[in-house]
Amino acid sequence: MSGNRLVTLNEFIIEKQSQFPYAKGELSRLLSHIGIAAKIVHREVNKAGLVDILGEVGAVNVQGESQKKLDVFADEQFIGALKGSSECCGIASEENQDIVTFDDDLAKNGRYIVTIDPLDGSSNIDVNVSIGTIFAIFRRVTPIGHKAEEIDFLQEGNRQVAAGYIIYGSSTMLVYTTGRGVNGFTLDPSIGEFCLSHRLIKTPETGEIYSINEGNYIKFPKGVKKYIKYCQENDKQTDRPYSSRYIGSLVADFHRNLLKGGIFLYPITENNPNGKLRLLYECNPIAFLAEQAGGKATDGRGNRILDIKPEALHQRVPFYVGSRNMVDKAEEMISIYE
Ligand code: AHG
Ligand code: MN
Ligand code: MN
Repeated sequence: MSGNRLVTLNEFIIEKQSQFPYAKGELSRLLSHIGIAAKIVHREVNKAGLVDILGEVGAVNVQGESQKKLDVFADEQFIGALKGSSECCGIASEENQDIVTFDDDLAKNGRYIVTIDPLDGSSNIDVNVSIGTIFAIFRRVTPIGHKAEEIDFLQEGNRQVAAGYIIYGSSTMLVYTTGRGVNGFTLDPSIGEFCLSHRLIKTPETGEIYSINEGNYIKFPKGVKKYIKYCQENDKQTDRPYSSRYIGSLVADFHRNLLKGGIFLYPITENNPNGKLRLLYECNPIAFLAEQAGGKATDGRGNRILDIKPEALHQRVPFYVGSRNMVDKAEEMISIYE
């Protein structure tokens, strides 16, 4: 906790900027704009039950899923904020098939690109359960002054310069990293500011929570089934059985496990040979945060998520993330039984 004096997100960003001797403030401006869009989305999420913003918009997004109105609203807000920052030359969003490039002269000079899941956990909107936003920021690889191109977005996750999420939960929080630890800010609605509430978050090396959609059990590979049974076994020494917790919003499931210790798994299934979650705007940013907090993120086959070379914007990847010892154990069992 930050003590008595409130530190707002903007104060914190500016303070950190001075630690980078050559920083010109571009990344700071970008993060500030994300914070502003987050407040606007927070406002809409909180009145979702009151106004006619709920329900299907009718369109089907690029994943073949029907879009909710808040998905579209959040997408527009973040795109608008990132464009307005003038530091970002383009984005890749879950809600758009192709990259969105910002082509005015100011934005073409932007040094950064952003990948984003504007509204994560959208099946939970209608039922008042926590949802989120996930983002990753990269330096572009194409020359400044030109339009952003797809290669700017197909960079390995280890090249992220910042990543974070917003959780719209019992309170709204923004959690982010620039590669120097993870810090969390809670929105104080009375002053409309994100305030530093969780300084340098460290995740436990071992936890007692496992999070997986067990409805898919019969479709999981044998090693995953064995790991689930391992979590459920009685063993005093290792505090098993673990508790099963699964919200169905990656942001909320990850956030809980980050603070309490645990493992989140979204394996391959018979129907989804690459799992469900998307590398660019779900797994990479969450993996960066997990590692920065002392945790681990892999594809369950021994590959670090951040080292996977993306081949497509909406690429899916199996995802194992959380407390280091738990991810290691899951991988060990998968490797034995497959
Ligand atoms: P989104 O709402 O952005 O499409 O993401 C939903 C994702 C993720 O938040 C969650 O972890 C996962 O889908 C849940 O999937 P299942 O319903 O298959 O468990
Ligand atoms: Mn999502
Ligand atoms: Mn989404």
